[in-house]
Amino acid sequence: MVSLDVFGSDPSGRDVHVLTLGRAPGPVLQVLDLGATVHRLEITGGDGRRRNVVLNLATPQEYLDSTAYLGSTVGRYANRIAAGRFELEGRAYQLGVNDRGNHLHGGPDGFHRRYWQIAERAEDEAVLELLSPDGDGGYPGALHVSARFRVTAGAVRLDLSAATDRTTPVNLTSHAYFNLDGDDAGTIDAQVLTLAAAAYTPVDGAGIPSGQLAPVEGTPFDFRQPRAIGPATRSDHPQVRAARGIDHNVVLDDRPGPAATLTSPATGTRMELHTDQPGLQVYTGNFLDGSGRSAGGRLLRQGDGIALEPQLFPDSPNQPAFPAPWLAPGESYRSFVEWRFSTLER
Ligand code: GLA
Repeated sequence: MVSLDVFGSDPSGRDVHVLTLGRAPGPVLQVLDLGATVHRLEITGGDGRRRNVVLNLATPQEYLDSTAYLGSTVGRYANRIAAGRFELEGRAYQLGVNDRGNHLHGGPDGFHRRYWQIAERAEDEAVLELLSPDGDGGYPGALHVSARFRVTAGAVRLDLSAATDRTTPVNLTSHAYFNLDGDDAGTIDAQVLTLAAAAYTPVDGAGIPSGQLAPVEGTPFDFRQPRAIGPATRSDHPQVRAARGIDHNVVLDDRPGPAATLTSPATGTRMELHTDQPGLQVYTGNFLDGSGRSAGGRLLRQGDGIALEPQLFPDSPNQPAFPAPWLAPGESYRSFVEWRFSTLER
């Protein structure tokens, strides 16, 4: 079932397209050219029922108005850069600020709002491309970005790559929010999370890391053993209170297996997240406030989904001890995320 359809039109009358990849009983993925957005991801749950397991919105206008990055491909720099400032090769750069005085997810006009070109498409695979010009959002250098989505029998994989003509910070990710019981199921409190992470990066009240790597031991961020999400987001740990839930980067361990595993005992569904990135922003939808409505018609509220965003650590252009975000001409940026689905033994 390969198709390219019109999803709707934006306020200027421009068509937004939706690509459908894969076929049942395997995963069926829908991607929009607006924001290279994961709009729908339908899988068969452990109870044998088909469900869309990502949060979404109904229309292009709602995607353009939203600040929730539902399913978006985020860049040029995902997560925060303090005050939107960094220095590179003796020069100071000022990026747009859009989150409590800081730069978030590429700034006011990030990649999630752009029209990506559909460069290739086949039954199970599509490539979307974007050219971000020199000076875009305040960033140096023209950046060519590519997002390859691939659907197999039990998994969906996104490969992101980029090349530049001047040194620039690059940090790309997918901001899909998952709810394994379906986009209309309500809270993810009872879903069980495992993270291959022994440390996290504590943040100030605006989400900027102190630079410290703190052990998760004894904190609500300790998901080294499988744990339900609800108790952690309701803990009175000062980091959780300040973020109204979990909105933190964890430092991924060196490991052979998944970075994260999410399961739903209710429907018997399991998802493994694999990536090559050093960090994972774990965000429990703390700012979903009922002002948006999913394509299925339900109001999206706090805790309705969990975003697991593989990436570099936040504010790494200003944190020399963090993995470096710089991409130079002649180099290629590459990252991937793969979501593997299976069913729980019952
Ligand atoms: C990221 C941030 C959150 C929030 C969401 C989008 O995950 O860390 O603070 O801004 O994006 O709403």
